[in-house]
Amino acid sequence: MHRSLKALRAVRRYRPDPVPRALIEQIVDAARWTGSARNRQPWRFVAVTDPVKLDELSRCGAYAVHLASAPVVLVLASVENSFSDTVFDMGRITQSICLAAQELGLGTCPTTFHPEPNVSRVAALLNLPAGWRPGHAVAIGYPAAISSPSAIPTGRLSTAELLHWD
Ligand SMILES: Cc1cc2nc3c(=O)[nH]c(=O)nc-3n(C[C@H](O)[C@H](O)[C@H](O)COP(=O)(O)O)c2cc1C
Repeated sequence: MHRSLKALRAVRRYRPDPVPRALIEQIVDAARWTGSARNRQPWRFVAVTDPVKLDELSRCGAYAVHLASAPVVLVLASVENSFSDTVFDMGRITQSICLAAQELGLGTCPTTFHPEPNVSRVAALLNLPAGWRPGHAVAIGYPAAISSPSAIPTGRLSTAELLHWD
């Protein structure tokens, strides 16, 4: 049960094969049905494939080096406003994107642009309209046979550690 949820891992190494535009469109078409607070849909997406721009994006985060070798990087922009639910909404759509990509045989890695001046750099690089903040991206590509070693501990806390009844 819930196999796709349990199987979803961060993939940071990709085969060089391009990802057809139609697949990226399918992913966005599925993910756009994600619910958001008040149905505001505070998200927009830029699919980046230009190697020069991918290289630049890979320099805009502390752990973003894998963006340079991803066939596609889907930059996620959120509208800047006072709604505290926007961060929650962006997390939800990111998970939808990753699960939709997985269904198509693609690997993904959510990636943070950091610190804030780098977020502005990404906005300028992609000519985003004022008011849109590209805080994160999802790298997308066919997983390479060899996965990347992770400096971050893997695995998860157990259900017993996470769930309490009251
Ligand atoms: C909000 C968020 C931001 C993340 N930012 C990065 C990042 O900047 N660089 C990176 O390599 N992975 C990033 N990740 C991926 C996490 O490192 C990954 O989900 C976590 O280590 C679990 O990986 P696993 O599912 O492969 O075990 C991010 C994940 C989330 C949810």
